[in-house]
Amino acid sequence: MAEVIHLEIAAPVSSAPPKHVQQRFHVKSFGCQMNVYDSERMGDVLTAQGMAATDSPDDADVVVLNTCHIRERASEKLYSDIGRLRQPRRDGSRPTIVAAGCVAQAEGAEIAVRAPAVDVIVGPLAYHRLPQLLQEARGGRVIDIDMPAVPKFDALPARRIAQASAFLTVQEGCDKFCTFCVVPYTRGPETSRPAADLIAEAAALVARGVREITLLGQNVNAYAGGLSLSGLIRELAQIDGLARIRYTTSHPRDMEGAGGDDLIAAHAEVAKLMPYLHLPVQSGSSRILKAMNRAHTRDSYLATLARLRAARTDIALSGDFIVGFPGETEADFQQTLSIVHEVGYAAAYSFKYSVRPGTPAATMADQVPETVKDERLARLQAAINEASLAFNHTTIGRRCTVLLERPGRKPGQLIGKTPWLQSAVVSLPGAVIGDLVEVEIVSAMPNSVEAVPCATTQSPV
Ligand code: SAH
Ligand code: SF4
Ligand code: F3S
Repeated sequence: MAEVIHLEIAAPVSSAPPKHVQQRFHVKSFGCQMNVYDSERMGDVLTAQGMAATDSPDDADVVVLNTCHIRERASEKLYSDIGRLRQPRRDGSRPTIVAAGCVAQAEGAEIAVRAPAVDVIVGPLAYHRLPQLLQEARGGRVIDIDMPAVPKFDALPARRIAQASAFLTVQEGCDKFCTFCVVPYTRGPETSRPAADLIAEAAALVARGVREITLLGQNVNAYAGGLSLSGLIRELAQIDGLARIRYTTSHPRDMEGAGGDDLIAAHAEVAKLMPYLHLPVQSGSSRILKAMNRAHTRDSYLATLARLRAARTDIALSGDFIVGFPGETEADFQQTLSIVHEVGYAAAYSFKYSVRPGTPAATMADQVPETVKDERLARLQAAINEASLAFNHTTIGRRCTVLLERPGRKPGQLIGKTPWLQSAVVSLPGAVIGDLVEVEIVSAMPNSVEAVPCATTQSPV
């Protein structure tokens, strides 16, 4: 049963008459790709109720804020958005406001007190019940932050996505409990969807024109849904019309030793599996990694990368970094800078440590001053930009495919992704979004490359 709490302080939903007969919804997504997937699925749920999507929150009857709790600044975005949405519009109406996602899960009761304008508070594992919750919200605010045993995926309608590249959540939750992180508390324990369901969902996506699928999970390489992740990838690779498979985010711990062998072998053997791996290390200092409870060291991480590179020489690597974790010294930070140079990341994301109440690191001694974090972040980002540019330079002259995803800035230009997940600007008369085109990379910038149509018969990556 859903935990549905009716709070007396809740104001009834807008009484102003709707201007349009068909109800409209707008979903705003914050945070990670798993939230992007969930946002799309909430859209599917509302569309199945006869509602229509709108790009603007201003003409929506229902606005869903799909929130992220990972850092303090991410969390605060919910409250600034609510502040705007609760202002009456010209006709006196305001939308029904739904707070969804990880902030809703972590701070459900607090949101109700701090932002009384919110009508529905729903966690990431309960949003399949959105229609029922919207119905109940007519009588006052509802909160559903249950983590139900019946998987939401079984209750969701068919997907309606019409894009060349789609996300597919295969695994949710986290059992790793890194000392800085809220995810185990907001997404619950690791669970994997059954492989058969995923193969069916992937086949349906391909039938809708999807060419690339990115398998998602907070710890995607811990996937265990009857098949391992590599087994699932091998099955998906059998689907005709599916050209590319990716997966994210992986944890180094699940790739170490014999446990990682089959996934690493898949990188060598499955042509549709793209040569790219996001494997966050967080810090280059084994001392800090221990305090973070990452269960890998600098050396074990580098050993995993060496095995990957032996299996697939051109694999592009990316990572996440946290600077200013409690107790991080300049010497620890130097180790982080040196690992960036040593690995030669194609891309990496770096963050200042943000205190998350309730996590073990929040109460650790030796919190690093904000000014030191700022200064380290700037140095780290400079090192990452240098590494990305150097990686992009190594790809000049390579022939590869690009999956075109959006228009470029100049007329006739399209932007897509190379196998190594670089943004590639392509000018190719007659090409349209969704095409998988063969190109040669001709120049490199820090965050993108330029490519021209391939004039060769040689088969590209
Ligand atoms: N499951 C993934 C990451 C999920 S969160 C993994 O284990 O790598 C995405 C990234 O946010 C993390 O990799 C980390 O770099 C960052 N992050 C998480 N908690 C944070 C915090 N409290 N402060 C700053 N960055 C954080
Ligand atoms: Fe957070 Fe660590 Fe789990 Fe990643 S592995 S989601 S960083 S607790
Ligand atoms: Fe944020 Fe939740 Fe994703 S906290 S990063 S939206 S799992």
